[in-house]
Amino acid sequence: MYPDRVLSGMRPTGAMHLGHFHGVLKNWIKIQHEHECLFMVADWHALTTHYDHPQNIEAYVWDMVIDWLAAGIDPNQATLFIQSRVPEHAELHLLLSMMTPLGWLERVPTYKEQQEKISDRDLSTYGFLGYPLLQAADILIYRANRVPVGEDQVPHIEFTREIARRFNHLYGREPDFEEKALGAVKKLGSKKARLYLELRTRYNEQGDDGALEAARALLGESQSLTVVDRERVFGYLEGSGKMILVEPQAMLTETSRLLGLDGQKMSKSYNNTIDLRDEEATIIKKIRTMPTDPARVRRTDPGEPSRCPVYSFHQIYSDAKTRDWVQQGCRSAGIGCLECKQPVVERVLDELRPMRAKAQAYLDDPTLVRNVIADGCERARKLAGDTLRDVRESVGLGYS
Ligand code: TRP
Ligand code: SF4
Repeated sequence: MYPDRVLSGMRPTGAMHLGHFHGVLKNWIKIQHEHECLFMVADWHALTTHYDHPQNIEAYVWDMVIDWLAAGIDPNQATLFIQSRVPEHAELHLLLSMMTPLGWLERVPTYKEQQEKISDRDLSTYGFLGYPLLQAADILIYRANRVPVGEDQVPHIEFTREIARRFNHLYGREPDFEEKALGAVKKLGSKKARLYLELRTRYNEQGDDGALEAARALLGESQSLTVVDRERVFGYLEGSGKMILVEPQAMLTETSRLLGLDGQKMSKSYNNTIDLRDEEATIIKKIRTMPTDPARVRRTDPGEPSRCPVYSFHQIYSDAKTRDWVQQGCRSAGIGCLECKQPVVERVLDELRPMRAKAQAYLDDPTLVRNVIADGCERARKLAGDTLRDVRESVGLGYS
């Protein structure tokens, strides 16, 4: 049994905007208090698609991390690190590539979709095909059991589970598994070991679920085993092999989706964002010039909030009373659009003011962020090294 652990990552896209904040970061900030969390900058993943112009990556990495911190990711709660600084990911990716059927990669839906969508670059590359496997390595190297991601990433988590299952199936049953399991059982101490073996027999011969429960509880409270030995003893109990890699679950949270200023998805490439570090004057101007329901040509024309991007902001920022006021005022032409936008302007300014100040502190002293990342990378490397040791041994490369 491995610890409860969350891993998630983002490709470095530079400064974060409100879409990132409401769609991803707010959730990360919440779960950092509930689980052990690792948050990663996926800079290698950026190269899978942008190998031909890597110039921006460095600045994007630091801008993104500054905004994570400014938004409230707490480096004392969560481990923040950069993928390429933990080369263990690459070794696991390589080792997993040996047993990854090509067809599995070709069938990942994002592969063909992205290839068709992105026409200005040649994505018929080895690295791009391997994108989901690199992501699998990111997750599996920490034995993370939970991965908060958006809907679009679910096939990648499913793929990761399949890779873990295949790996465990291929390597989890060492030829001398029984011997090793019994060796591990001994380490429980003779009294516990005897009880464990009795319970195991009762479960395996009589299907006694109570005995299985009792044996699990016994192992649960026993502190004397290494992680690998624990896995052996748990696996031996139920007659399965050793779980070397953990099958992760996607953590789908309903996030409030904030649309862009023009009503499309908020995205830098659509030029419709409010960035976490935008100046007050910029924010005010962006919201005041936002398009509204096109039916409201004149102030006296009634409108329909569901056709207006401003209303998507009200859905996130306003209470029920304000939303009622908008609905009625809009449909009856009782309020004007600038009037309608005013509460949104205020709430966004209130939300971003402290973030801008925090980001400024990080901009003023870049060593702060460098130190956070250096610490995080060090912690991540330790965890990654533990898994990699087991993986190397499993695939027959355990010699030194
Ligand atoms: N592919 C993810 C995205 O585009 C980023 C990512 C890379 C990731 N490695 C990961 C997400 C590991 C979760 C876990 O959003
Ligand atoms: Fe949009 Fe508000 Fe104007 Fe209605 S009144 S069109 S909801 S901005």
